Amino acid sequence: MKVIHKEVENSYTIRFSKNIKSFINKQKSIYSKIAIVSDTNIWTLYSKSLPSKGILNINIKPGEKSKSIRVKNQIEEELLKNNFNRKSLIIAIGGGVVGDLTAYTASTFMRGVDLIHIPTSLVAIVDSSIGGKTAIDNKYGKNLIGTFYNPKEIVINMDFLSSLPKKEIRQGIAEIIKYSIIDDKELFSLLRTINKDFLSNTNKNVVKIVKKCIEIKIKTIQEDFKEGDKRMILNFGHTVGHAIEKLYNYSKSHGDCIGLGMLVEAKIAHDIKELSSANYEKIKELLMMYGLLELKLNKSDAKKLISFMRLDKKNSDNKITFSIPKNIGKMKTTKGRHSIQINDKIILSALNKVINEIKN
Ligand SMILES: NC(=O)c1ccc[n+]([C@@H]2O[C@H](COP(=O)([O-])OP(=O)(O)OC[C@H]3O[C@@H](n4cnc5c(N)ncnc54)[C@H](O)[C@@H]3O)[C@@H](O)[C@H]2O)c1
Ligand SMILES: [Zn+2]
Repeated sequence: MKVIHKEVENSYTIRFSKNIKSFINKQKSIYSKIAIVSDTNIWTLYSKSLPSKGILNINIKPGEKSKSIRVKNQIEEELLKNNFNRKSLIIAIGGGVVGDLTAYTASTFMRGVDLIHIPTSLVAIVDSSIGGKTAIDNKYGKNLIGTFYNPKEIVINMDFLSSLPKKEIRQGIAEIIKYSIIDDKELFSLLRTINKDFLSNTNKNVVKIVKKCIEIKIKTIQEDFKEGDKRMILNFGHTVGHAIEKLYNYSKSHGDCIGLGMLVEAKIAHDIKELSSANYEKIKELLMMYGLLELKLNKSDAKKLISFMRLDKKNSDNKITFSIPKNIGKMKTTKGRHSIQINDKIILSALNKVINEIKN
């Protein structure tokens, strides 16, 4: 006997629209019940430009702490209290925290209700809203509980970015730099030439950069929805970056940690004779230009970081795996696979070299 799933991965559209209010109002003719989940920062700034009639608003506290089973329960209570059912719609308007939490809730509520993402942070626009990964955190770590669940649609309004704090823009730039290194040398060159104050660049360039990143993410996840191998390239900088986040007890932002993580992983690539010295220096310059090498590490941190890397959920059998660049815009493959194991000695040496380089 066979169970055939005709649609394992349902398709959806990502579109740019400035008129979010009318987009949401249109959903009223399709769904009898609609909830908007947002955080209080977004709500304070944008509630007046969003429709309110006939819509349930659920606002969570901003910040990673809200990606919890407790807040998920609160959202479910609200939905149930208001008689939401299988045919209802949930719209996530916010950054990656709102997106991940809401999508996870939507994926389990009545075994799955329709979801629309309206990402408002640069991270959410270029990264977290795309790819179907949903998650909450717990005391054992970040993103350990979740599902793969695609939205019906993603609607992007770049105007949201005008109120995003500079520090949060930088977190998005870290992922943008990642996309350029893993897949697009022209994007890398463009990032070197534009103004480092990202939003002060021409709208044309900003939109071009954002669209490129979205295309790279779509292309990658289409090839590998459930993290077989190709999706591993999106993890560039993250094996070391996650360890740095843990070292700092999650008090530092993700992008700042993966910025430094990318440098260490580029150093590994250089040390195993894949990446040239010139390209390593270019990567370092670009990270520096966007303020992504500000975190400091001590020599004594190197060994701790390696032990944290070993615990990362993407690693197995005690082996630490990476996806590393062989060139700017091109990742290394071995026998067709992107993930490669690197021994501790090489990781330790790369960490020590980078710690030395960023000391001052
Ligand atoms: N699912 C995925 O594939 C994926 C990928 C990357 C990151 N993530 C997750 O995303 C989260 C990080 O997302 P994030 O960086 O967007 O963080 P976030 O959601 O915490 O947003 C950052 C801050 O910016 C505020 N904000 C958002 N949009 C704003 C706007 N337009 N104007 C003013 N303030 C605004 C938020 O209130 C918050 O204070 C993490 O939990 C991470 O694990 C998930
Ligand atoms: Zn990331």
